[in-house]
Amino acid sequence: MSKQILLKNIDVPGIKGIHAYRANGGYASLEKALRTMKPDEVTEEVKKSGLRGRGGAGFPTGMKWSFLAKPAGVPRYLVCNADESEPGTFKDRFLMAHIPHALVEGMIVSSFALGAETAYIYIRGEMLYVYHILEEAIAEAYEAGLLGKNILGSGFSLDLYVHPGGGAYICGEETALLESLEGKRGNPRIKPPFPAVKGLWGCPTVVNNVETIAAVPHIVNMGGDEYAKVGIGKSTGTKLISACGHINKPGVYEIELGLPVEEFIYSEKYCGGIKNGKKLKAVVASGSSVPILPADLILTTAKGEPRLMTYESLADGGFITGTMLGSGGFIVMDEDTSIVKNLWNFTRFYHHESCGQCSPCREGTGWMEKILHKFMEGHATIADIDLLWDIQSKIEGKTICPLGEAAAWPVAAAIRHFRSEFEDYVRNPEKIKDIKHYYRVNNLQPVY
Ligand SMILES: Cc1cc2nc3c(=O)[nH]c(=O)nc-3n(C[C@H](O)[C@H](O)[C@H](O)COP(=O)(O)O)c2cc1C
Repeated sequence: MSKQILLKNIDVPGIKGIHAYRANGGYASLEKALRTMKPDEVTEEVKKSGLRGRGGAGFPTGMKWSFLAKPAGVPRYLVCNADESEPGTFKDRFLMAHIPHALVEGMIVSSFALGAETAYIYIRGEMLYVYHILEEAIAEAYEAGLLGKNILGSGFSLDLYVHPGGGAYICGEETALLESLEGKRGNPRIKPPFPAVKGLWGCPTVVNNVETIAAVPHIVNMGGDEYAKVGIGKSTGTKLISACGHINKPGVYEIELGLPVEEFIYSEKYCGGIKNGKKLKAVVASGSSVPILPADLILTTAKGEPRLMTYESLADGGFITGTMLGSGGFIVMDEDTSIVKNLWNFTRFYHHESCGQCSPCREGTGWMEKILHKFMEGHATIADIDLLWDIQSKIEGKTICPLGEAAAWPVAAAIRHFRSEFEDYVRNPEKIKDIKHYYRVNNLQPVY
């Protein structure tokens, strides 16, 4: 369970530049696709590969591509979601900063498959250093004749732009992203219509995550069937995991899907165990927005089976005893972490980032923050725990976009698994003053 695909050349000197990238097999997929394949054949390979979107929801990529409407005479667009504002998720910026041509190549091959002649990389505005790296890579690709008119004499043309984002977490939601890309405030759109039918500038559009698009050249090179042999079951391929929190070796790791969670946390190859010999208390497996799981449930499912790093295994037990693989932002908390204080921090973030269009989210995130603030100040009551539960239950499924759920699920899971900690703070409010460990999430990534 240690196959490297996306990061296999990460240590090659100069891999950021086009010469080293090409010398190590880069852009071979573009030559293969443009010279020997039809666009639909590329989509077919992506379907066979079983690749699922790496942006969070895990939707099958080939299927998403096949939904793209193709009315005659109407342009189609490919948009790469490089917003990556989810606290705890920092794998896309790592890939783009170190191997930018992996994304550029993926954008060209994917655009060819989709019949897009204009494509955009929408990158979080604060990640200016990565923006410049991408700009340079794109310039190199134009100079090498890999972008622009009549690429490799194939008749296929593509213009690729990198666009700095609006500086809001909501701009990572695909329809808010499209609004922002059109120069408007990043408010999510009501769906349907979905972007595949009416996306950027009202035209059919595919929005995919950085890691999803970067996997496409490998699928074309290996063939979809070979790619599908990596991983396990319906979780095919490899996944980038950004690991942070109380671990000895925080960082970005490429894992083969199917790796046991326990091995990921404790082996020297990955996180290297919990810092300072402390015990594991809990893990948020995918950025801040998925249900937190206590140590026993993150290591084994409620059925007693080892929990694996796959879409299915992490979701085993639903949200009662399970969680989600999502974008792969793995936040590890040791025994000294205050779940309540951490939750207050996450909730502050969601309140701040709610776009305000839907009242359950706009008002609900604010109320949840206020109640959690009472815990922080030491005047919460037992009734506040039930009120918190009640408010979160009135957000899920009642908003235009899933930011509402992203704010509600962490609250529900914290109460479900750690209710006694909430009660303890009610009975012993002085304890709140001793808390040292929590996550600051209004920045680039959590720190502790
Ligand atoms: C509030 C919010 C923020 C999101 N942020 C991101 C993001 O930064 N990057 C991303 O790829 N997907 C993000 N998503 C998911 C996107 O809406 C979309 O599902 C994804 O880009 C699709 O790409 P994929 O199919 O390759 O996973 C976010 C969703 C929500 C609701």
